[in-house]
Amino acid sequence: MSLFFRLLLLTGLVSAQNYVGTQINNSLPFVPGSEITYFNVISSSGLNLTLTNYMSLNSSGKRFDPTKIQRAVIIIHGLQRDPGTYMANILSALSQVPNRPDVSVDSVAIMAPYFPNGDDKNYGYPWTDGLAPGKGSTTNALVWQGSQWAGGANNQYPSYSVHTSSYDALDQAVKWFDNTAVFPNMHQIVIAGHSLGAQTTNRYAAIGSVLNTKSPVNYWIANPNSWLWFNSSRPLDTSSCPTYDDYREGLSNFTNTYGATLLKGGGSAVLARWNSRNINFARGTQDTGDDSTTCAPETTGSNRNERFFNFIRWFPPSCPNPTSGPCDTVDYVNVGHDAGAMMASPAGQARLFLDNFSGDKSKATDFGCPRLQTGDDPYPNSTCTQPVAHPDQGTYSGLTYQGCYSNSAATLDLCASSCVKAGYSIAGAEYGNE
Ligand SMILES: *[C@@H]1O[C@H](CO)[C@@H](O)[C@H](O)[C@H]1NC(C)=O
Ligand SMILES: *[C@@H]1O[C@H](CO)[C@@H](O)[C@H](O)[C@H]1NC(C)=O
Ligand SMILES: *[C@@H]1O[C@H](CO)[C@@H](O)[C@H](O)[C@H]1NC(C)=O
Ligand SMILES: *[C@@H]1O[C@H](CO)[C@@H](O)[C@H](O)[C@H]1NC(C)=O
Ligand SMILES: *[C@@H]1O[C@H](CO)[C@@H](O)[C@H](O)[C@H]1NC(C)=O
Ligand SMILES: *[C@@H]1O[C@H](CO)[C@@H](O)[C@H](O)[C@H]1NC(C)=O
Ligand SMILES: *[C@@H]1O[C@H](CO)[C@@H](O)[C@H](O)[C@H]1NC(C)=O
Repeated sequence: MSLFFRLLLLTGLVSAQNYVGTQINNSLPFVPGSEITYFNVISSSGLNLTLTNYMSLNSSGKRFDPTKIQRAVIIIHGLQRDPGTYMANILSALSQVPNRPDVSVDSVAIMAPYFPNGDDKNYGYPWTDGLAPGKGSTTNALVWQGSQWAGGANNQYPSYSVHTSSYDALDQAVKWFDNTAVFPNMHQIVIAGHSLGAQTTNRYAAIGSVLNTKSPVNYWIANPNSWLWFNSSRPLDTSSCPTYDDYREGLSNFTNTYGATLLKGGGSAVLARWNSRNINFARGTQDTGDDSTTCAPETTGSNRNERFFNFIRWFPPSCPNPTSGPCDTVDYVNVGHDAGAMMASPAGQARLFLDNFSGDKSKATDFGCPRLQTGDDPYPNSTCTQPVAHPDQGTYSGLTYQGCYSNSAATLDLCASSCVKAGYSIAGAEYGNE
């Protein structure tokens, strides 16, 4: 066979990667404007596995023309593993972008991967009862255990090949979109997530491999319940939570194979990788809920709001040079824990669809004025001249800051955790209701 012919074959294969996975029977809902496709993920030993996903269609209701695609957005679902909902929400957000007919499903490709678990048998993938333990999954569908996909653990099914991390699947999707033989006009790739999808995006940005992509990759992290902490200190008391530093909240007891080499370099190596990324923080300012199932997130704040402000205080976002990156942004949106509203907001539209759309390095400044906490404005909007609303956020451990009773407590954190240790949590809650 001539080299030319081989090359052609190879190109054909690569371009097809999202359409040559095995069709996995499922009952995922139909979502207008998209189709369910089967991404061929190649395991480390060269086996073909399948990641089911939703893929956007173009404005004619057809598979898009890859040569017209300028941007790819990979949107990661939350705890409910409902990629269809996320696809519907993000298609709606895209359709609402004002005054930009060039920014549409003809130029933006959207992929919503599905990370199923054991609760999705005979819904997300076929399952046969009565076979040997673990053998009931009879296709090559990738399935993870519990919520471990969020942290990059390896798959549990198919049982004959259990070495593929959810982050390997994301890496292969990014590389597919970055392949200029398929997408010659690609300018920008965005990995985006809300809630547990945002937790996934946070961990993937922190420990994900360096892919040396031609197109820059930005990470949109909206309203995660917890953050990966890069060292073993916490803003709040850890004494009643011995597992506070275990992965996925910290870097201890890391048992995944994906990322294990990076982890050998310790927290400073992971922090350096995180700092090398373009992070778009997105915060719904009415999102003050808490979905923790372990005590670990509580050691960084009593709800999603406090955890966000503590995280950016400890590991500050920065944008030394917006045109050459890495450049972080912090956006405030006046909504609650609502993926659709976050995506459709002007801030969501800027990060998901507009920043650097045509490869011209354009990037919107931080959304939300006044700013809320010192250090939360890596890429300031020069017209926002109001003073920072809460120079220090003022709510820690469920307490609202009322001034500290002890001169020895030098910081708000120390104050709040001293108050908690001294048993004042109930009094704090009363103050909060004032
Ligand atoms: C998928 O569903 C079709 C129609 O119900 C059935 O014929 C086929 O055997 C199924 N395939 C698998 C792998 O379960
Ligand atoms: C994987 O799939 C590709 C494309 O369908 C095929 O050419 C190749 O032989 C498969 N590899 C294995 C190990 O089955
Ligand atoms: C949609 O995709 C089809 C097939 O790739 C292509 O023929 C058609 O021109 C596309 N429509 C638009 C509006 O780009
Ligand atoms: C904008 O996109 C171009 C083309 O992909 C890329 O070279 C450049 O680094 C990007 N700039 C920024 C600031 O993202
Ligand atoms: C470490 O992780 C393993 C596997 O996730 C878990 O079974 C074990 O309980 C963890 N150990 C500690 C001390 O958290
Ligand atoms: C962890 O990082 C924070 C914020 O940079 C710092 O104040 C603290 O001393 C660090 N703790 C350790 C154990 O390095
Ligand atoms: C900066 O803020 C002003 C006033 O809120 C707004 O009109 C403008 O669009 C913002 N600029 C950017 C680049 O976001």
